[in-house]
Amino acid sequence: MTISRRSFLASGLAAGPLALNTPFGSFPGPFPGALEILAQDPRPTDRVRRFENMAFGLFVHWGLYAQLGAGEWVKKLHGIDTPRYMELMKTFTAKDFSGRELARVAKRAGMRYVTLTSRHHDGFSLYDTAGLSPYDVTKTPAGRDLIADFCDGCRAEDIVPMLYCTTLDWTDPRFEHDWKGYQEYLRASIRRLCTQYGPIGGFWFDGNWSKKDADWETDALYAVIREHQPEALIINNTGLEQGGKLTHDEIDAVTFERGRPSPLDRSGMKKYVTGEMCLTFNQHWGIATNDFNLLSPAHVIEELLLCRRAGANLLMNVGPTAEGRVPDYERAALARVGDWIRLHGGEESTLYEGRPQRMRGTERDFALRRGETIDLFVFDITTTASTMHGVKSRGAGKRRFEGVPEGFDRAIWLDDGSEATIERNGETVTLDAKKWRYGTNTVVRVARLSQA
Ligand code: GLC
Repeated sequence: MTISRRSFLASGLAAGPLALNTPFGSFPGPFPGALEILAQDPRPTDRVRRFENMAFGLFVHWGLYAQLGAGEWVKKLHGIDTPRYMELMKTFTAKDFSGRELARVAKRAGMRYVTLTSRHHDGFSLYDTAGLSPYDVTKTPAGRDLIADFCDGCRAEDIVPMLYCTTLDWTDPRFEHDWKGYQEYLRASIRRLCTQYGPIGGFWFDGNWSKKDADWETDALYAVIREHQPEALIINNTGLEQGGKLTHDEIDAVTFERGRPSPLDRSGMKKYVTGEMCLTFNQHWGIATNDFNLLSPAHVIEELLLCRRAGANLLMNVGPTAEGRVPDYERAALARVGDWIRLHGGEESTLYEGRPQRMRGTERDFALRRGETIDLFVFDITTTASTMHGVKSRGAGKRRFEGVPEGFDRAIWLDDGSEATIERNGETVTLDAKKWRYGTNTVVRVARLSQA
């Protein structure tokens, strides 16, 4: 049988659209407004604090489906049966896949971690499952363990590797017919990932939303991680419908898939849990060559900042090509976001270790404090078609920030070092946001306060 992208897609289309409950449903509602983060009690564990300080990560969806260039759900949504789909293993070369290169893309963007799909819903693993599954990379022309390459490459660049692990499986027969057996398979897979590749920053599960009432045996699954990788973060994606929901005591961060994180109210929580929002450049996570609906760098900058405003991380996704290379547009767009971060302090930016504490801006404006540094983030001086829909430009003018500790009475604009005009009334600071000087538009402008 010859396999071409076209024949795959056509066979699925001929079968007609499937009525499936996919996660591509409605988007969660708008940001509920400026709230405070009351993070006094409980305190974050070191691993959660380290994760929060990483702020920005690269999500990578990659697997057999990349060869079809029509998204990571192509098998299911185009009705491709398993034997036919697994023919893609014969042409999976991973010629351009390099963990180090992924880590460099991340680093260039100002990111501090990368989360790669070790296995997605199609059941194909990028690692040597040592016989746990017939569908893994060792049976392809790639002939090397890509998770090993990934973890080593990240560490060489001082980037933290994390692993996405599907719990929903379309091809393993045990998923439908032998639930206990499937759970054992899942745990054995995680045990391998925990023991073969050195320290892993975190495990990112996805798919429990597919069988809401099933017993996923999460106590036992998470125990494997706590036993072998006590410092790894545990995340389990709650999907589009239940963003922000905490589903288990061992979870370290709740997810907001393509949502808008809101600050977490931690009162009454047993432990300090943080948040992460994941987002992709278009409507697909795996590469979709005919999806042109791509986000701009301006949009990604705003999303990143709105996450930090809510105390959450942003996990920004790319889908590498069939051979494993990050597509040019996404690579360039992320580098542009990295330029923005560099212009505002780079590694020293308040985006990482800074927290909103009690400070509040109006509308989308907000403040972050790290030690004796306070940055005020001013949105919507102009808004272009490429930034978020439904948001109007507020133009130049006065912006108010509440709860700003006294003594911070001087301000400069970080993009050009010029003096910013502020007035203070108790803990309220009013900043005069001028219109852009010709030659400049940094999307969100940042004024740094210091003690006079
Ligand atoms: C959804 C999708 C999946 C993607 C994930 C990323 O759960 O099923 O394809 O991996 O979202 O958040």
